[in-house]
Amino acid sequence: MIDSDSNQPQGKLIIAIDGPAGAGKSTIAARLARRLGYVNLESGAMYRALALKAIDKDMSFADEAALVKLAEQSHIKLEPAVGGNRTLLDGRDVSSRIRERDVTEAASHVSLHPAVRAWMVAHQRAMGAGGGIVMEGRDIGTKVFPDADLKIFLDADAVVREQRRREQQQIKGEVASTVAAELRERDRRDRTRAASPLLAAADAVVIDSTKLTEDEVLDMVEELARRKLAG
Ligand code: DC
Repeated sequence: MIDSDSNQPQGKLIIAIDGPAGAGKSTIAARLARRLGYVNLESGAMYRALALKAIDKDMSFADEAALVKLAEQSHIKLEPAVGGNRTLLDGRDVSSRIRERDVTEAASHVSLHPAVRAWMVAHQRAMGAGGGIVMEGRDIGTKVFPDADLKIFLDADAVVREQRRREQQQIKGEVASTVAAELRERDRRDRTRAASPLLAAADAVVIDSTKLTEDEVLDMVEELARRKLAG
């Protein structure tokens, strides 16, 4: 299938998109990657895959050493695909399962541990080293690729982010009553953790998407990328 956004591959930039949940990172990263002919890598899917494995093994999310050991014994693969990336855990397609509520909650705890993060960062660097990528997450511009060619910090008002999440869940037919409280709590954990807390890199372009449409944000980010490509 040819995506209508697609374009000829150009350059080999490393583009980092960070920000809180519900700011629109995933959609923007995926569409930007298509427009540039780049690969889109969702770093959060890796934390989610490890969290799923910990759930399946009935492990404590507080046991840092055991979680790192689990990660070392795991094969987590992000497989870029048109129309949504796939996440493979030990060869199993867990793309849908890792979006469920229990995994979302578990990933928020698993990602607190510095040693787990170190394992993830090493793998994320290896995946993106060749450039031509749009990687999104919480610490891409600050930690994974501090020398990224373009860093975007995509933010939005908490009420708007909650509303977007609620709409996404309604589309999926899920109960959305606890969305706001859970999102706020995950946000708090992301922003206050000791290891690589969520914050904008000093050289990131901060975009507040509260009053912008998806297409407006995408156009802004694409313009920034094309300016970088033009040198
Ligand atoms: O972006 P996401 O919701 O799929 O991320 C899942 C969890 O992983 C979330 O709780 C934040 C965490 N995460 C992180 O700590 N660092 C990243 N680079 C990506 C995600």
